[in-house]
Amino acid sequence: MKPPKRLQPLVDEGLIDTVVRQLMSGKEAEVYVVRCGDETLCAKIYKEATHRSFRQAVDYTENRKVKNSRQARAMAKGTRFGREAQEAAWQSAEVDALYRLAAAGVRVPRPHNFHEGVLLMELVADADGDAAPRLNDSVFTPDEARAHHATLIREVVRMLCAGVVHGDLSEFNILLAEDGPVIIDLPQAVDAAGNNHAQRMLLRDVENLRHFFGQTAPELLRTDYGHEIWALYQRGVLSVETALTGQFEHEAGAVDLGGVLREIDDARDEEAARRLRLQAGG
Ligand SMILES: Nc1ncnc2c1ncn2[C@@H]1O[C@H](COP(=O)(O)OP(=O)(O)OP(=O)(O)O)[C@@H](O)[C@H]1O
Ligand SMILES: [Mg+2]
Repeated sequence: MKPPKRLQPLVDEGLIDTVVRQLMSGKEAEVYVVRCGDETLCAKIYKEATHRSFRQAVDYTENRKVKNSRQARAMAKGTRFGREAQEAAWQSAEVDALYRLAAAGVRVPRPHNFHEGVLLMELVADADGDAAPRLNDSVFTPDEARAHHATLIREVVRMLCAGVVHGDLSEFNILLAEDGPVIIDLPQAVDAAGNNHAQRMLLRDVENLRHFFGQTAPELLRTDYGHEIWALYQRGVLSVETALTGQFEHEAGAVDLGGVLREIDDARDEEAARRLRLQAGG
């Protein structure tokens, strides 16, 4: 097909030979299948901030690392420079996370390049070499559900040991490749150590897995890997080899002061995200 405008710079640079077809148009990005030499790759074109969803803005506003204070101030004020800086930080967050996780041995698409707001990466493929389906579009036996759940819990641990919480892990952002589940879609990934919402996001990620696979293997609904993993992480004893039980004893009657403070934080952040969205729209 004729390359869409946003891919033309990559064609000009020789990073892409031909554009095969459009794969998806999601909330945040358009995804294409492209050819480069004898390789078939996936090109993800980020949409502009104004087209992105409210939900991501919430977690995004928190503690995102920026290079300098001028940039940080501009981002806070929502000037044009600030919005551009924010945009660049958002896009590079996914690229950074992919490199970091690939290096840590997490099964993510192998990143190839990032150029003019386009991420070139491995095309995750099924047994026929076609783009792999999402978990949501796949059917499993209870045994397969248990096996994929166990694999993905190990991946969550591996990510956390590499300092990353995905933040939007669900059956929509996991592909089923020939060799098993592959985690995608990481622009909202956060630094586990530097983000006040890391715990909440990790618990939500693990809860999504539990709920999804629990539909096929109901005994998974009785597990609580999220709290177990976070408690080990906080004590500094979590490693990729740590044996997990899936059980966690919540302290009876303990006042969850941290939880209360997080609720307050969340309300504040939602307000910040609302303002961010108003700026982006106006
Ligand atoms: N590396 C890849 N290999 C194969 N398919 C991919 C790859 N990356 C993305 N896709 C396909 O494109 C879809 C959208 O990608 P992604 O989730 O990264 O973007 P998004 O804008 O967040 O989309 P959505 O809003 O649907 O979540 C995925 O659900 C998947 O079907
Ligand atoms: Mg997605």
